[in-house]
Amino acid sequence: MAKYLDLRTQYNKNDLIEAAEFIKNGKLVLFPTETVYGIGANGLDSNAVKSIFVAKNRAGDNPLILHVSSIDMVDTIAKDISPLEKKLMNDFFPGPLTIILKRKDIVPNVVTANLDTVGVRMPSNKIARDLIELSNTPIAAPSANISGRPSGTNIQDIFNELNDKVDYILDGGETKIGLESTVIRVINDKIHILRPGKITYEDLSKYAEVIIDEHILGSLKENDKILSPGMKYKHYAPNTKCMLIYSDDKEKLLEEMKKLENENTLIITNNNNVNLFQNAIGYGTSLEEISHNIFKLLRQIDKHNKELIIIEGVKPEGLGLAIMNRLIRACSHNYIKL
Ligand code: TXA
Ligand code: MG
Repeated sequence: MAKYLDLRTQYNKNDLIEAAEFIKNGKLVLFPTETVYGIGANGLDSNAVKSIFVAKNRAGDNPLILHVSSIDMVDTIAKDISPLEKKLMNDFFPGPLTIILKRKDIVPNVVTANLDTVGVRMPSNKIARDLIELSNTPIAAPSANISGRPSGTNIQDIFNELNDKVDYILDGGETKIGLESTVIRVINDKIHILRPGKITYEDLSKYAEVIIDEHILGSLKENDKILSPGMKYKHYAPNTKCMLIYSDDKEKLLEEMKKLENENTLIITNNNNVNLFQNAIGYGTSLEEISHNIFKLLRQIDKHNKELIIIEGVKPEGLGLAIMNRLIRACSHNYIKL
């Protein structure tokens, strides 16, 4: 049983002193960020970080992001930062962007899965940043979920899954964005997007040429060279079989979805289309709403006891790229593009 602290309606920095002590003592603290919840541990303590891998049942070759509360803290863990990387940090930190940088030796191998790089992010969520500052150490934190499950965006969804796996739970209510951070790496002054998120291709294109990694919407083939180990793993998938379907031609898309629906299916679609189907639930109208709701919906899917879930895709542009990246994985690449 973890200690639980409710910070949903009122919060002040002093409330976090005890949780910060837990971090300093090598314990695991579940905390909110603006993207999703994280399972945090002292990022410079190998044993503490190892216990994150155990709690999540996470593969040891999948590295963790170190969360910082200041640019000064970045300099303690990363080196040879280029002017472009500096500019990106200046403009997007704090916020939902993770930059893969050259690591310093102080970073334990278990954090980086023995890579010579480290993922660095400064969350904008106040509770997250205050916790890091009070702990006085970078906090290693993957998304809060057992590996393979959808990332947690509120405590209710993940309480049973993680309550006996962590030592302390900070409840900050629903996370604002609902999808994990954009992960990028700068190589030869080009920005490679390794995982799309709220900071989009379009946002980053103002700074340099941006390359969207081919695995973001495609599947991984044997012997493919990958820049981010996380791409290899099955992710976000409910137990019920899911199918993603998309066409730029909206009428054609809805017509096809109508053909596919029967008493054993559940349709997940834009709120505006829910009435067109016998058995459908809405995931929101705007891309912001959809990204906010999608993990929560994926966690509820199995409760409907259907044979097949048919999910309407969105145009993979702007925030739509991140939504499609998560949905393709949730559907285990069972994706029809008309
Ligand atoms: O929004 C987020 O990023 C959340 C919150 C808690 O901050 N965290 C998160 O962590 O999503 P996680 O561990 O679930 O996803 C981190 C991703 C993985 O796909 C991992 O492979 C990749 O980042 N990654 C981490 N360090 C890396 C590195 N040095 N090189 C390449 N990829 C890296
Ligand atoms: Mg994750």
